[in-house]
Amino acid sequence: MQPIDTKKEETNRYTKYLMIKNAGFPMITGYEENPIIKNKELFEKYVKEQWVGMNVKKGDYLFDKYISPGFAFKAVIVEPENSIITESTVIFLEEEIVDKIDEEIDEDYKKEYRVKFSDVIGQKFAKSKCSVIKMFLQDPDKFGDWAPKNILFYGPPGTGKTMLAKALASETDAEIVCINATNLIGGFVGEGSSNIHRLYDYAEKNAPCIIFIDEIDAIALDRRYQELRGDVSEIVNALITEMDGITDRKGVCLIAATNTPNVLDNAIKSRFEEEIEFILPDFSDRLNILEKYTKTYPIPLSDKVDLKKIARDLDGYSGRDIVEKVLKVALHRSLLNEDNEVKDEHLISAFKDSEMIIKNKRNLPADNLYR
Ligand SMILES: Nc1ncnc2c1ncn2[C@@H]1O[C@H](COP(=O)(O)OP(=O)(O)OP(=O)(O)O)[C@@H](O)[C@H]1O
Ligand SMILES: [Mg+2]
Repeated sequence: MQPIDTKKEETNRYTKYLMIKNAGFPMITGYEENPIIKNKELFEKYVKEQWVGMNVKKGDYLFDKYISPGFAFKAVIVEPENSIITESTVIFLEEEIVDKIDEEIDEDYKKEYRVKFSDVIGQKFAKSKCSVIKMFLQDPDKFGDWAPKNILFYGPPGTGKTMLAKALASETDAEIVCINATNLIGGFVGEGSSNIHRLYDYAEKNAPCIIFIDEIDAIALDRRYQELRGDVSEIVNALITEMDGITDRKGVCLIAATNTPNVLDNAIKSRFEEEIEFILPDFSDRLNILEKYTKTYPIPLSDKVDLKKIARDLDGYSGRDIVEKVLKVALHRSLLNEDNEVKDEHLISAFKDSEMIIKNKRNLPADNLYR
């Protein structure tokens, strides 16, 4: 018998988290269907009735004794390893995570994106790179072993990063899975890395597919800053494994986006084959944005409006700032006034009101992070 390390025993005795998965029956009985869990809370209570007090390690089988006697669950994650199940152990079924991801995929990811490349104004460099990715998504075989795999979009907020990723999906028949990195962080050990692998599993099944991870800095933070977000190293490691293509995921391309590329974990950063910068719109881009979006106003734009002058004033504004802080506000003011057109004064007052906010934002030291 091994000597007991009492100190370790004390801290590591009880199971905090246990993730199990269906392992099925040990033999064919005529009763082969996997039991369906209807109420997860009740299920947790029910299995605890049977398992509290048991010592469990990763890989162990835990049997149901009552409803489906002999049906086995396999322990996938035990935290801490080799510990005793108690009333306060949190027990998860692995499928719960699948459900969670699938739900999100259903809600957000599978939206029909109608936005096209041509809707994204400016960003020539980013668009040319995306043309290559587009070619790849249309014909992955053409690229052999040289497929685009990991691309980073970076630049100030509201410059069209998400928009371009969506355009890429809508211009090809590729599926796009858009996920905000914070949604990948799990509540317990192992959940985050499991989420990453599931995301890639989903993408592989639906290839050609783009995985778009927005705000990648939320997980792939440089180790110096990781304390800010808690321990995300398991997600970072899982992501690195997938980015390296240890499992060959054919037809899957990762695009990650961030406003702050220089706080990214170096191991992750070095795996992006290309870092594509999104820049603030120049004068002609701003004018294009103004012209394009005012055409979609529900009431006419006064022909006295000088869009060129406004475009000049909007130096330092992102596409989103122009649309949300100037054009939308101007329209609302005009509607509130019951004017039958959007006038210069509405646009100018919206611009003036937003000017300080934008200037302050641009002067923040955080601005340096964009580069
Ligand atoms: N280059 C652009 N061309 C046309 N519209 C743009 C452009 N950039 C931004 N916009 C407008 O701003 C909105 C926000 O853009 P988007 O979500 O793509 O920004 P982002 O770069 O992903 O920002 P964040 O870093 O905050 O996620 C778009 O839906 C669009 O209305
Ligand atoms: Mg975005």
